[in-house]
Amino acid sequence: MLHNEEVSTPKSVEDEILAEWNVEFRKVEKSLNGDFKEHFPNVDGFVRSEPGGFFMMDEYSHHAEKIYRFQPRSDDVWITTFPKCGTTWTQELVWMIMNNCDKMKAKAPIIIRSPFLEFPYMLRPGIMPAEMTQMMPTLEMVDAMPSPRVIKSHLPFFLLHPKLLDTCKVVYVARNPKDVMVSFFYHHQLMDVHGFEGDIEKFAQYFMDDEIMFSPFFPHILDAWNKRHHPNILFLFYEDMKKDLRGEIEKVAKFLGQSLSEEQLTDLREHLRFENCAKNESMNMEVAKQFGNMNKDGHFIRKGKTGDWKNHFGPELNKRIDEWIDKNLSGTDLKFVTELEFQD
Ligand code: A3P
Repeated sequence: MLHNEEVSTPKSVEDEILAEWNVEFRKVEKSLNGDFKEHFPNVDGFVRSEPGGFFMMDEYSHHAEKIYRFQPRSDDVWITTFPKCGTTWTQELVWMIMNNCDKMKAKAPIIIRSPFLEFPYMLRPGIMPAEMTQMMPTLEMVDAMPSPRVIKSHLPFFLLHPKLLDTCKVVYVARNPKDVMVSFFYHHQLMDVHGFEGDIEKFAQYFMDDEIMFSPFFPHILDAWNKRHHPNILFLFYEDMKKDLRGEIEKVAKFLGQSLSEEQLTDLREHLRFENCAKNESMNMEVAKQFGNMNKDGHFIRKGKTGDWKNHFGPELNKRIDEWIDKNLSGTDLKFVTELEFQD
């Protein structure tokens, strides 16, 4: 006779890993008033994660766990980056390769073809124009997308599904922090929802203090750098794409197991040229201007150069940034290129 014993169902390794969500978010008190509030008037406070020190708008913290649990598929390709490292450029590259360079299909907005996973969960409801919010695919919509999906995220690996790298291919793009700072500064000026009210010097200090959304910069990049030998990750540098785009396209195609004809390769190289991306309406986000969400004077695809920081940093600020970079890279074998002799 069987007793009424409790039978526990065995848990898969995946269940156990997923059960371990133990990230907490604490409000960053100083972000709620004083200088901070003056510099970021449109943000209702930031939070920082424990562990990881991830710095983000408060809204994200309410959705972080469900984003972490979002299930990747084996035939997905994810593009993960710190913001302003050339994400959109790489999304277009990867999407084209995965879709037989179909230029007709590529006319649909990149935010639909290649969803930005956490975007609908970053900003407090109501702050974005409804037309814009409705365009951004939710997790449920991404879940229902047909394969192969090309998914973008700026989250560091520890905030994404713990089996991501063992499940699907990930293209990680890094860029030198000086140009990232400048590009991110302009991005904050461009997007009303971020709206930084200060100069580049102040912005750079927030950046170095890990007080800009998606910070800290170095752990984000170094974590991916340390994973670069995993067969499912391809680690790219923006500067290499500026130097030899054709070579980088070939590298990505090989990594994704796709072959391009000579004609497709030449065509894609042309398609991805800065000037062409800047006027490509499916990529340049100019559509947001009609919703009143974007500063009319700026451009999302802005300058596209390596070394633009030289037009923005004075000698004292540059020295401080160099020291910050040296400190963070000491003991690692990661090196950034901040100038190029030749670039497109
Ligand atoms: P700049 O602000 O320095 O011009 P992300 O997509 O990660 O937000 O990155 C945006 C940066 O990539 C911007 O940098 C943008 O101009 C640059 N970019 C976009 N398309 C590019 C291209 N085809 N060639 C070079 N840079 C490009």
